[in-house]
Amino acid sequence: MKFFVDTADTDAIRDLNNLGMVDGVTTNPSLIMKSGRDIKEVTKEICDMIPGPVSAETVALDADGMIAEGRELAKIADNITIKVPLTWDGLKACKVLSGEGRMVNVTLCFSANQALLAAKAGATFISPFIGRLDDINLDGMELISDIREIYDNYGYETQILAASIRTVNHMTDAARIGADVATAPPDVIRKMASHPLTDKGLEGFLKDWEKTGQKILS
Ligand code: E4P
Repeated sequence: MKFFVDTADTDAIRDLNNLGMVDGVTTNPSLIMKSGRDIKEVTKEICDMIPGPVSAETVALDADGMIAEGRELAKIADNITIKVPLTWDGLKACKVLSGEGRMVNVTLCFSANQALLAAKAGATFISPFIGRLDDINLDGMELISDIREIYDNYGYETQILAASIRTVNHMTDAARIGADVATAPPDVIRKMASHPLTDKGLEGFLKDWEKTGQKILS
């Protein structure tokens, strides 16, 4: 499973990238707002750092506006993935932009039917939002599973990009189902390394080591 980082915080991206944990980046208008930076400037910095797909989101509501914004965002770098919402206009924009050979990420997907339409419109990525479904007492992971089944039934090449990930369990479950990509906030990726038994085991080993009075480096 590829790891994308869901943030526009360049320090956090750099940190994880130094460990080889970053296959791509996703941003959205809220994350750009949180960064406090200009969308083109921060996106360019991310694209220069990460060779994989970097999603930048359009904000127009009509297809022509999304297409124009998508083409403008694509000028930032070759690895820009244009993000459009899963509306009828978003699907129209996806069809046009993907037809021009651009990567398109169709976002705000909350149903299997929406994902089916995005695949037919030529989306490179479909972003089903797990956490936001869980928030309203629905099963976000069931959606990932349904989309996996449907895409595999027909051989659609659109990649399932599990989004709105909130917990480390979301990462495990998405990987078990076979999501192609998971995009997660940096702290979720870091938490994947934590286990209380690792900490406890390490503490025990160090206590015993101290009793030996030995040193590995002299
Ligand atoms: C990613 O592409 C989405 O914009 C993001 O995962 C949304 O996450 P949230 O539901 O935590 O805002």
